[in-house]
Amino acid sequence: MIQIRGLTKIYNGVPVLNGIDLDIKKGERIAIIGPSGTGKSTLLRCLNFLETPEKGEYILDGKMIDVQKAKAAQIKEMRLRTAFIFQNYALFANKTARDNIAEGLITVRGVAKERALERADHILQDIGLADKADAYPASLSGGQQQRVGIGRAMASDAELMLVDEPTSALDPEWVDEVLQLLTRVAQAHQTMLIVTHEMAFAKEIADRVLFMEGGRIVEQGPPEKIFTNPEDPRTRSFLRKIL
Ligand SMILES: Nc1ncnc2c1ncn2[C@@H]1O[C@H](COP(=O)(O)OP(=O)(O)O)[C@@H](O)[C@H]1O
Ligand SMILES: [Mg+2]
Repeated sequence: MIQIRGLTKIYNGVPVLNGIDLDIKKGERIAIIGPSGTGKSTLLRCLNFLETPEKGEYILDGKMIDVQKAKAAQIKEMRLRTAFIFQNYALFANKTARDNIAEGLITVRGVAKERALERADHILQDIGLADKADAYPASLSGGQQQRVGIGRAMASDAELMLVDEPTSALDPEWVDEVLQLLTRVAQAHQTMLIVTHEMAFAKEIADRVLFMEGGRIVEQGPPEKIFTNPEDPRTRSFLRKIL
């Protein structure tokens, strides 16, 4: 679906992504693990052009986008084809759950308002929050807020979901409901890049696990392989620390 070639991102002279090459197939669910500060979030943000990389290419259905020379239309296409689920939910505080889900459909995807609100209600039903349609984020639990964040991504029908540590801002009591919803989304063979520290979850849903360190993909493979028999000492050392 998308190929990434030589993706490089530099902050203050320091490379944070060091020439990432990655092919994402349609329907593939890829979990990204690795210590903090290694560029996992930056990789997702670059894919959505929330950040502009210094170098590299995206090849989208065979069409090449030079990230440095990307035209507005190409950036828009990448944004339409991706949906972001943020660690801190990133909901509009002054909008209801329904409006949070409908907003992007209206403003980014040009869906008629009435149709967008219908879609939002349908999604709220699906994610078990129909009774919270008119609630504002501040009155929702962290788990409910993140479910709205996931609902917003589901509503977009984007081909690729970019999911950045979806449970790490949550109190432990809300982690399960969020992982359950994401598991359901993943089981529908939604193409996903998901950064997570929830190893059991990664094991369950991922087709492939990438271990990143220092802005590079150090090792990748099926979860059975990476979690039980990693080859690189850096992967082993990381897993030893967190498991
Ligand atoms: N907007 C920014 N400006 C400067 N440095 C940044 C910015 N965003 C991230 N960084 C730095 O880039 C590195 C990688 O960050 P990040 O992608 O958030 O790592 P991870 O998600 O793996 O924890 C870190 O050293 C971080 O401090
Ligand atoms: Mg991060």
